[in-house]
Amino acid sequence: MIIRPETPADFPAIRKVVTEAFEAQAEADLVDRSRTGSEYRPDMAPVAVEADQIVGHVMIDGCWVRGEHGDREIVMLSPLAVLPSHQQHGIGSTLIKAALDAADEAGEPLVTLEGSPSFYGKRGFVFAGDHGLSLPMPDWAPHEAAQVYLLSRYDPEDMSLQGRVVYPPSFDELG
Ligand SMILES: CC(C)(COP(=O)(O)OP(=O)(O)OC[C@H]1O[C@@H](n2cnc3c(N)ncnc32)[C@H](O)[C@@H]1OP(=O)(O)O)[C@@H](O)C(=O)NCCC(=O)NCCS
Repeated sequence: MIIRPETPADFPAIRKVVTEAFEAQAEADLVDRSRTGSEYRPDMAPVAVEADQIVGHVMIDGCWVRGEHGDREIVMLSPLAVLPSHQQHGIGSTLIKAALDAADEAGEPLVTLEGSPSFYGKRGFVFAGDHGLSLPMPDWAPHEAAQVYLLSRYDPEDMSLQGRVVYPPSFDELG
């Protein structure tokens, strides 16, 4: 399996992977919208390729922490998708690690996300509230779904990293 950053030639195949994984268009539309905004970070959007076919994709986008010190740009992971026929073989975990490594290399201090605490907790994510971050969660989501991965540049004394996470406009239509 090859892991590499996405390129424009991959976009139709990525759309297929995301649509099949989520059995819906909404997340694929979100991926397409994210690429048109300033939040787009192609260096942090890896694909997994097997036998010349894209079988998985994940995206890290820019967002903000709004706190006492104003707005500070950080990054968030969403969404993660693996073709149903290729799930349970470690591809999702490998993509998360690749995206986190890219964020670390880019000098980001942390990666936040809203997702399954059991899935992401096993992959090093911890409750965001324990690190001074709150996420705009839907009512139905358990509060533990607000998570953060602390990278090598993370400084717990840096108050600009504490506050309320503000998603980019591309997320407004997700509901
Ligand atoms: C969630 C999702 C991305 C996981 O992808 P995946 O490639 O199946 O993930 P992995 O294989 O890395 O891990 C899933 C399970 O596979 C198993 N697994 C991991 N590596 C394995 C390997 N080498 N061999 C066999 N099984 C393995 C593990 O049991 C793991 O379960 P765990 O969480 O209990 O550890 C995929 O199920 C998906 O696309 N779902 C629909 C979209 C979605 O819900 N996305 C997440 C929200 S953003």
